[in-house]
Amino acid sequence: MSTTPAPPRVLCDLMEFARARTDELFTLLAPQAIYTRPVPERHRLIFYLGHLEAFDWNLVCRQSLGVPSFHPQLDKLFEFGIDPPVGKAAEDQPADWPAVEEVLNYNRRVRQIIDDSLGQAPEQLVHVAIEHRLMHAETFAYLIHNLPYDQKCAPQPNAQLNYHNHPLAAAMIEIPAGCATLGQKAGQLGWDNEFDEHQVHVPAFAVSKYKITNGDYLKFVDAGGPPPHFWTRHGDKWLYRGMFAAIPLPLNAPAYVTHRQATAYARWAGKDLLTEAQYHRAAYETPEPQERPYAWGTSVPDKTRGNFDFQHWDPVDVDATPRGDSAWGVSQLAGNGWEWTSSAFGPFPGFEPFPFYLGYSKNFFDEEHYVMKGASPRTASCFLRRSFRNWFRPDYPHVYASFRLTEN
Ligand SMILES: [Fe+2]
Repeated sequence: MSTTPAPPRVLCDLMEFARARTDELFTLLAPQAIYTRPVPERHRLIFYLGHLEAFDWNLVCRQSLGVPSFHPQLDKLFEFGIDPPVGKAAEDQPADWPAVEEVLNYNRRVRQIIDDSLGQAPEQLVHVAIEHRLMHAETFAYLIHNLPYDQKCAPQPNAQLNYHNHPLAAAMIEIPAGCATLGQKAGQLGWDNEFDEHQVHVPAFAVSKYKITNGDYLKFVDAGGPPPHFWTRHGDKWLYRGMFAAIPLPLNAPAYVTHRQATAYARWAGKDLLTEAQYHRAAYETPEPQERPYAWGTSVPDKTRGNFDFQHWDPVDVDATPRGDSAWGVSQLAGNGWEWTSSAFGPFPGFEPFPFYLGYSKNFFDEEHYVMKGASPRTASCFLRRSFRNWFRPDYPHVYASFRLTEN
Protein backbone atom coordinates (compact mmCIF):
# COMPACT_ATOMS: atom_id res chain seq x y z
CA MET A 1 0.00 0.00 0.00
CA SER A 2 1.41 3.40 -0.99
CA THR A 3 2.19 5.89 1.77
CA THR A 4 2.47 8.79 -0.71
CA PRO A 5 -0.12 11.44 0.19
CA ALA A 6 -2.62 12.08 -2.58
CA PRO A 7 -2.14 15.45 -4.30
CA PRO A 8 -5.00 17.92 -4.01
CA ARG A 9 -7.49 17.22 -6.79
CA VAL A 10 -7.34 20.80 -7.98
CA LEU A 11 -3.59 20.55 -8.67
CA CYS A 12 -4.07 17.33 -10.64
CA ASP A 13 -6.82 18.97 -12.70
CA LEU A 14 -4.68 22.05 -13.38
CA MET A 15 -1.73 19.89 -14.43
CA GLU A 16 -3.97 17.82 -16.70
CA PHE A 17 -5.41 20.99 -18.26
CA ALA A 18 -1.92 22.43 -18.84
CA ARG A 19 -0.62 19.19 -20.37
CA ALA A 20 -3.63 19.05 -22.71
CA ARG A 21 -2.90 22.62 -23.89
CA THR A 22 0.72 21.83 -24.76
CA ASP A 23 0.07 18.30 -26.10
CA GLU A 24 -2.49 19.61 -28.59
CA LEU A 25 0.05 22.01 -30.10
CA PHE A 26 2.34 19.15 -31.16
CA THR A 27 -0.57 17.46 -32.97
CA LEU A 28 -0.78 20.51 -35.28
CA LEU A 29 2.70 19.93 -36.72
CA ALA A 30 3.44 18.14 -39.98
CA PRO A 31 5.95 15.33 -39.22
CA GLN A 32 8.94 17.08 -40.79
CA ALA A 33 8.32 20.29 -38.82
CA ILE A 34 9.48 19.01 -35.42
CA TYR A 35 13.19 19.48 -36.26
CA THR A 36 12.75 22.92 -37.83
CA ARG A 37 13.47 26.28 -36.17
CA PRO A 38 10.64 28.59 -37.27
CA VAL A 39 11.99 31.48 -35.16
CA PRO A 40 15.76 31.99 -35.56
CA GLU A 41 16.23 33.23 -31.97
CA ARG A 42 14.63 30.17 -30.42
CA HIS A 43 15.42 26.43 -30.28
CA ARG A 44 14.22 23.91 -32.84
CA LEU A 45 10.69 22.66 -32.02
CA ILE A 46 12.01 19.29 -30.79
CA PHE A 47 13.52 21.15 -27.81
CA TYR A 48 10.06 22.09 -26.53
CA LEU A 49 8.81 18.50 -26.78
CA GLY A 50 11.39 17.59 -24.14
CA HIS A 51 11.66 20.90 -22.28
CA LEU A 52 8.21 20.91 -20.69
CA GLU A 53 8.75 17.52 -19.07
CA ALA A 54 12.42 18.16 -18.23
CA PHE A 55 11.49 21.40 -16.45
CA ASP A 56 8.89 19.62 -14.29
CA TRP A 57 11.30 16.80 -13.63
CA ASN A 58 14.28 18.99 -12.72
CA LEU A 59 12.22 21.28 -10.50
CA VAL A 60 9.79 18.97 -8.76
CA CYS A 61 11.48 15.57 -8.71
CA ARG A 62 15.21 16.09 -8.92
CA GLN A 63 15.73 19.37 -7.00
CA SER A 64 12.86 19.30 -4.54
CA LEU A 65 12.27 15.61 -3.83
CA GLY A 66 15.76 14.29 -4.59
CA VAL A 67 14.56 11.58 -6.98
CA PRO A 68 17.60 10.11 -8.82
CA SER A 69 17.82 10.91 -12.51
CA PHE A 70 17.06 8.16 -15.02
CA HIS A 71 18.37 10.16 -18.02
CA PRO A 72 20.77 12.97 -16.95
CA GLN A 73 21.69 13.76 -20.56
CA LEU A 74 18.12 14.72 -21.50
CA ASP A 75 17.57 16.47 -18.15
CA LYS A 76 20.43 18.80 -19.15
CA LEU A 77 19.72 19.07 -22.89
CA PHE A 78 16.15 20.20 -22.31
CA GLU A 79 16.78 22.32 -19.22
CA PHE A 80 16.58 25.90 -20.51
CA GLY A 81 15.39 27.87 -23.53
CA ILE A 82 17.32 30.71 -25.17
CA ASP A 83 16.69 34.44 -25.68
CA PRO A 84 19.60 35.90 -27.68
CA PRO A 85 19.42 39.38 -29.23
CA VAL A 86 17.43 39.38 -32.47
CA GLY A 87 19.59 38.21 -35.37
CA LYS A 88 21.89 36.02 -33.22
CA ALA A 89 20.58 32.55 -33.95
CA ALA A 90 21.85 29.26 -32.52
CA GLU A 91 23.89 27.06 -34.85
CA ASP A 92 22.92 23.50 -33.87
CA GLN A 93 21.79 21.01 -36.50
CA PRO A 94 18.77 18.64 -36.52
CA ALA A 95 21.13 15.68 -36.08
CA ASP A 96 22.30 17.19 -32.76
CA TRP A 97 18.90 16.36 -31.24
CA PRO A 98 17.54 12.96 -30.12
CA ALA A 99 14.88 10.99 -32.00
CA VAL A 100 11.26 11.91 -31.31
CA GLU A 101 10.55 8.43 -29.92
CA GLU A 102 13.40 8.74 -27.39
CA VAL A 103 11.97 12.08 -26.21
CA LEU A 104 8.45 10.67 -25.97
CA ASN A 105 9.74 7.74 -23.89
CA TYR A 106 11.49 10.21 -21.57
CA ASN A 107 8.29 12.24 -21.32
CA ARG A 108 6.11 9.22 -20.50
CA ARG A 109 8.44 8.14 -17.71
CA VAL A 110 8.71 11.67 -16.30
CA ARG A 111 4.93 12.10 -16.25
CA GLN A 112 4.46 8.84 -14.44
CA ILE A 113 6.99 9.69 -11.73
CA ILE A 114 5.65 13.26 -11.42
CA ASP A 115 2.09 11.99 -11.03
CA ASP A 116 3.17 9.46 -8.41
CA SER A 117 5.02 12.08 -6.39
CA LEU A 118 2.80 15.13 -6.86
CA GLY A 119 1.36 14.74 -3.36
CA GLN A 120 4.80 15.07 -1.77
CA ALA A 121 5.95 18.11 -3.73
CA PRO A 122 5.68 21.63 -2.29
CA GLU A 123 2.48 23.14 -3.70
CA GLN A 124 4.30 26.30 -4.80
CA LEU A 125 6.61 24.29 -7.05
CA VAL A 126 3.72 22.42 -8.63
CA HIS A 127 2.05 25.75 -9.42
CA VAL A 128 5.32 27.01 -10.92
CA ALA A 129 5.51 23.87 -13.11
CA ILE A 130 1.88 24.30 -14.23
CA GLU A 131 2.27 28.00 -15.03
CA HIS A 132 5.60 27.44 -16.76
CA ARG A 133 3.87 24.92 -19.03
CA LEU A 134 0.96 27.28 -19.70
CA MET A 135 3.40 30.08 -20.61
CA HIS A 136 4.94 27.74 -23.15
CA ALA A 137 1.46 26.88 -24.47
CA GLU A 138 1.47 30.50 -25.62
CA THR A 139 5.09 30.98 -26.67
CA PHE A 140 5.09 27.68 -28.56
CA ALA A 141 2.03 28.97 -30.46
CA TYR A 142 4.18 31.97 -31.52
CA LEU A 143 6.75 29.57 -32.93
CA ILE A 144 4.29 27.49 -34.93
CA HIS A 145 2.56 30.68 -36.05
CA ASN A 146 5.78 31.38 -37.94
CA LEU A 147 5.84 27.97 -39.69
CA PRO A 148 4.82 27.89 -43.37
CA TYR A 149 1.15 26.86 -43.67
CA ASP A 150 2.03 23.55 -45.33
CA GLN A 151 3.91 22.47 -42.19
CA LYS A 152 0.91 22.62 -39.85
CA CYS A 153 -2.75 21.71 -39.90
CA ALA A 154 -5.66 23.50 -38.26
CA PRO A 155 -7.47 21.66 -35.45
CA GLN A 156 -11.03 20.51 -36.06
CA PRO A 157 -13.26 22.36 -35.56
CA ASN A 158 -11.48 25.69 -36.16
CA ALA A 159 -14.08 28.47 -35.98
CA GLN A 160 -13.65 31.19 -38.58
CA LEU A 161 -13.68 34.66 -37.06
CA ASN A 162 -15.89 37.43 -38.39
CA TYR A 163 -14.30 40.81 -38.93
CA HIS A 164 -15.92 44.17 -39.63
CA ASN A 165 -14.37 47.22 -41.19
CA HIS A 166 -16.78 49.89 -39.96
CA PRO A 167 -15.14 53.14 -38.77
CA LEU A 168 -14.34 53.33 -35.05
CA ALA A 169 -14.46 56.55 -33.05
CA ALA A 170 -10.87 57.24 -31.95
CA ALA A 171 -11.96 58.26 -28.44
CA MET A 172 -9.53 59.20 -25.67
CA ILE A 173 -10.74 58.58 -22.10
CA GLU A 174 -9.67 60.84 -19.23
CA ILE A 175 -8.42 59.05 -16.11
CA PRO A 176 -8.06 61.34 -13.07
CA ALA A 177 -4.96 61.33 -10.87
CA GLY A 178 -4.96 58.68 -8.16
CA CYS A 179 -3.40 55.49 -6.87
CA ALA A 180 -2.67 52.21 -8.59
CA THR A 181 -1.77 48.99 -6.81
CA LEU A 182 0.99 46.97 -8.43
CA GLY A 183 2.33 43.60 -7.40
CA GLN A 184 1.07 40.67 -5.37
CA LYS A 185 0.39 40.30 -1.63
CA ALA A 186 2.93 38.19 0.28
CA GLY A 187 1.73 34.61 0.58
CA GLN A 188 -0.38 34.73 -2.59
CA LEU A 189 0.38 32.89 -5.81
CA GLY A 190 2.82 34.70 -8.09
CA TRP A 191 6.27 34.63 -9.70
CA ASP A 192 9.18 36.34 -7.97
CA ASN A 193 8.90 39.56 -10.05
CA GLU A 194 5.28 40.07 -8.89
CA PHE A 195 6.34 40.82 -5.29
CA ASP A 196 5.99 43.01 -3.25
CA GLU A 197 2.60 44.63 -3.54
CA HIS A 198 2.92 48.42 -3.47
CA GLN A 199 0.98 51.54 -4.39
CA VAL A 200 1.99 54.16 -6.92
CA HIS A 201 0.54 57.63 -7.44
CA VAL A 202 -0.40 58.16 -11.09
CA PRO A 203 -0.96 61.72 -12.40
CA ALA A 204 -4.02 62.33 -14.59
CA PHE A 205 -3.73 61.07 -18.16
CA ALA A 206 -5.89 60.25 -21.17
CA VAL A 207 -5.87 56.82 -22.80
CA SER A 208 -7.28 55.53 -26.07
CA LYS A 209 -10.48 53.56 -25.59
CA TYR A 210 -9.43 50.94 -28.11
CA LYS A 211 -6.22 49.18 -28.92
CA ILE A 212 -4.53 50.61 -32.03
CA THR A 213 -6.02 48.71 -34.95
CA ASN A 214 -4.52 47.41 -38.18
CA GLY A 215 -6.48 50.18 -39.89
CA ASP A 216 -4.84 52.83 -37.66
CA TYR A 217 -1.41 51.32 -38.16
CA LEU A 218 -1.91 51.08 -41.93
CA LYS A 219 -1.90 54.90 -42.10
CA PHE A 220 1.50 54.87 -40.39
CA VAL A 221 2.80 52.27 -42.86
CA ASP A 222 1.46 54.32 -45.76
CA ALA A 223 3.42 57.27 -44.31
CA GLY A 224 6.62 55.19 -44.34
CA GLY A 225 6.38 53.31 -41.00
CA PRO A 226 7.63 49.71 -40.69
CA PRO A 227 4.98 47.02 -41.42
CA PRO A 228 4.26 44.48 -38.65
CA HIS A 229 5.73 40.99 -38.88
CA PHE A 230 2.18 39.59 -38.97
CA TRP A 231 1.38 41.36 -42.26
CA THR A 232 2.35 40.11 -45.68
CA ARG A 233 2.14 41.90 -49.01
CA HIS A 234 -0.05 40.36 -51.73
CA GLY A 235 -0.03 42.48 -54.90
CA ASP A 236 -1.07 45.96 -53.85
CA LYS A 237 -2.81 44.74 -50.66
CA TRP A 238 -1.73 43.74 -47.15
CA LEU A 239 -2.85 40.38 -45.72
CA TYR A 240 -2.88 39.35 -42.07
CA ARG A 241 -0.85 36.16 -41.53
CA GLY A 242 -3.29 34.29 -39.29
CA MET A 243 -2.33 31.09 -37.53
CA PHE A 244 -3.70 28.80 -40.23
CA ALA A 245 -4.39 31.12 -43.21
CA ALA A 246 -3.57 34.55 -44.57
CA ILE A 247 -6.66 36.75 -44.79
CA PRO A 248 -7.46 40.26 -46.02
CA LEU A 249 -6.18 42.67 -43.36
CA PRO A 250 -8.89 42.92 -40.65
CA LEU A 251 -8.87 46.69 -40.22
CA ASN A 252 -10.58 46.69 -36.81
CA ALA A 253 -8.45 43.95 -35.26
CA PRO A 254 -5.51 45.06 -33.08
CA ALA A 255 -2.15 45.61 -34.74
CA TYR A 256 0.38 43.12 -33.35
CA VAL A 257 3.70 44.94 -33.39
CA THR A 258 7.09 45.13 -31.71
CA HIS A 259 7.79 47.56 -28.89
CA ARG A 260 9.95 49.61 -31.27
CA GLN A 261 7.11 49.81 -33.81
CA ALA A 262 4.58 50.74 -31.11
CA THR A 263 6.92 53.45 -29.80
CA ALA A 264 7.53 54.81 -33.31
CA TYR A 265 3.78 54.89 -33.98
CA ALA A 266 3.15 56.75 -30.71
CA ARG A 267 5.83 59.30 -31.56
CA TRP A 268 4.36 59.73 -35.07
CA ALA A 269 0.94 60.29 -33.47
CA GLY A 270 2.39 62.78 -30.95
CA LYS A 271 1.50 60.55 -27.99
CA ASP A 272 3.08 57.94 -25.68
CA LEU A 273 2.66 54.31 -24.68
CA LEU A 274 1.10 53.49 -21.32
CA THR A 275 3.43 53.05 -18.39
CA GLU A 276 2.95 49.92 -16.31
CA ALA A 277 1.37 52.03 -13.53
CA GLN A 278 -0.97 53.78 -15.99
CA TYR A 279 -2.08 50.39 -17.28
CA HIS A 280 -2.93 49.35 -13.71
CA ARG A 281 -4.84 52.54 -13.09
CA ALA A 282 -6.82 52.23 -16.34
CA ALA A 283 -7.56 48.53 -15.84
CA TYR A 284 -8.17 47.97 -12.14
CA GLU A 285 -8.97 51.28 -10.44
CA THR A 286 -12.43 52.79 -10.47
CA PRO A 287 -13.96 56.25 -9.91
CA GLU A 288 -14.73 55.04 -6.36
CA PRO A 289 -11.94 54.28 -3.90
CA GLN A 290 -12.28 50.64 -4.83
CA GLU A 291 -10.15 48.31 -6.95
CA ARG A 292 -11.10 45.47 -9.25
CA PRO A 293 -9.33 42.11 -9.47
CA TYR A 294 -10.13 41.98 -13.19
CA ALA A 295 -10.68 44.93 -15.51
CA TRP A 296 -14.36 44.13 -16.02
CA GLY A 297 -15.21 43.88 -12.35
CA THR A 298 -15.90 40.18 -11.73
CA SER A 299 -13.98 38.16 -9.17
CA VAL A 300 -13.00 35.47 -11.71
CA PRO A 301 -11.42 35.67 -15.20
CA ASP A 302 -14.74 35.52 -17.08
CA LYS A 303 -14.03 34.13 -20.57
CA THR A 304 -17.18 35.62 -22.03
CA ARG A 305 -15.72 39.12 -21.61
CA GLY A 306 -12.52 38.83 -23.58
CA ASN A 307 -10.44 36.90 -26.10
CA PHE A 308 -8.10 34.85 -23.90
CA ASP A 309 -7.66 31.31 -22.49
CA PHE A 310 -7.24 29.58 -25.87
CA GLN A 311 -10.68 30.49 -27.21
CA HIS A 312 -9.34 31.59 -30.60
CA TRP A 313 -6.09 31.33 -32.54
CA ASP A 314 -6.27 34.90 -33.82
CA PRO A 315 -7.47 38.30 -32.61
CA VAL A 316 -11.05 39.55 -32.83
CA ASP A 317 -12.05 43.15 -33.57
CA VAL A 318 -11.12 45.70 -30.87
CA ASP A 319 -14.80 46.54 -30.25
CA ALA A 320 -16.02 42.91 -30.22
CA THR A 321 -16.01 42.46 -26.42
CA PRO A 322 -17.79 45.50 -24.86
CA ARG A 323 -18.61 43.53 -21.68
CA GLY A 324 -14.89 43.51 -20.98
CA ASP A 325 -14.54 47.28 -20.58
CA SER A 326 -12.85 48.63 -17.45
CA ALA A 327 -14.64 50.89 -14.96
CA TRP A 328 -13.51 53.93 -17.01
CA GLY A 329 -14.85 52.43 -20.26
CA VAL A 330 -11.44 51.40 -21.63
CA SER A 331 -11.80 48.40 -23.92
CA GLN A 332 -9.88 45.09 -24.02
CA LEU A 333 -7.21 45.88 -21.47
CA ALA A 334 -7.10 42.13 -20.91
CA GLY A 335 -7.34 39.71 -23.83
CA ASN A 336 -7.00 39.99 -27.61
CA GLY A 337 -3.30 40.91 -27.40
CA TRP A 338 -0.82 41.79 -24.67
CA GLU A 339 -0.28 45.53 -24.23
CA TRP A 340 3.19 46.97 -24.55
CA THR A 341 4.09 49.47 -21.86
CA SER A 342 6.88 52.05 -21.93
CA SER A 343 8.22 50.55 -18.66
CA ALA A 344 11.46 48.57 -18.78
CA PHE A 345 11.15 45.28 -16.90
CA GLY A 346 12.65 45.72 -13.44
CA PRO A 347 12.29 44.58 -9.84
CA PHE A 348 9.56 45.84 -7.52
CA PRO A 349 10.64 47.09 -4.07
CA GLY A 350 11.39 44.03 -1.95
CA PHE A 351 12.08 41.72 -4.91
CA GLU A 352 13.74 38.42 -4.01
CA PRO A 353 14.54 35.85 -6.71
CA PHE A 354 12.97 32.41 -6.30
CA PRO A 355 15.72 30.29 -4.71
CA PHE A 356 14.71 27.35 -6.93
CA TYR A 357 14.79 29.40 -10.18
CA LEU A 358 17.27 32.21 -9.63
CA GLY A 359 17.42 33.53 -13.19
CA TYR A 360 13.71 33.51 -14.03
CA SER A 361 13.31 37.29 -13.70
CA LYS A 362 16.70 38.64 -12.61
CA ASN A 363 18.40 37.72 -15.90
CA PHE A 364 16.01 40.06 -17.71
CA PHE A 365 16.37 43.17 -15.51
CA ASP A 366 18.68 44.58 -18.14
CA GLU A 367 16.83 47.58 -19.68
CA GLU A 368 16.54 45.43 -22.81
CA HIS A 369 13.11 43.98 -22.02
CA TYR A 370 9.79 45.82 -21.64
CA VAL A 371 6.76 44.98 -19.53
CA MET A 372 3.62 43.76 -21.25
CA LYS A 373 0.29 43.54 -19.43
CA GLY A 374 -3.08 42.01 -20.27
CA ALA A 375 -3.34 38.79 -22.27
CA SER A 376 -3.46 37.44 -25.80
CA PRO A 377 -5.93 34.98 -27.35
CA ARG A 378 -3.49 32.20 -26.35
CA THR A 379 -2.92 33.31 -22.74
CA ALA A 380 -4.21 31.01 -19.98
CA SER A 381 -6.70 32.69 -17.66
CA CYS A 382 -4.44 32.32 -14.60
CA PHE A 383 -2.15 35.00 -16.10
CA LEU A 384 -4.95 37.55 -16.02
CA ARG A 385 -4.32 38.06 -12.31
CA ARG A 386 -3.60 41.70 -11.69
CA SER A 387 0.01 41.22 -10.59
CA PHE A 388 1.21 39.10 -13.52
CA ARG A 389 3.93 40.74 -15.65
CA ASN A 390 5.14 39.55 -19.03
CA TRP A 391 8.22 40.90 -20.82
CA PHE A 392 10.01 40.68 -24.15
CA ARG A 393 12.82 42.32 -26.08
CA PRO A 394 11.68 45.48 -27.91
CA ASP A 395 12.38 44.07 -31.36
CA TYR A 396 11.17 40.46 -30.96
CA PRO A 397 8.38 40.40 -33.56
CA HIS A 398 6.59 37.10 -32.83
CA VAL A 399 4.51 38.10 -29.79
CA TYR A 400 0.76 38.74 -29.91
CA ALA A 401 1.40 42.23 -28.55
CA SER A 402 -0.84 45.21 -29.13
CA PHE A 403 -0.69 48.75 -27.76
CA ARG A 404 -2.70 51.90 -27.09
CA LEU A 405 -1.81 55.55 -26.69
CA THR A 406 -1.73 58.00 -23.83
CA GLU A 407 -1.65 61.76 -23.52
CA ASN A 408 -0.03 63.06 -20.36
FE1 LIG B 1 10.82 27.21 -20.24
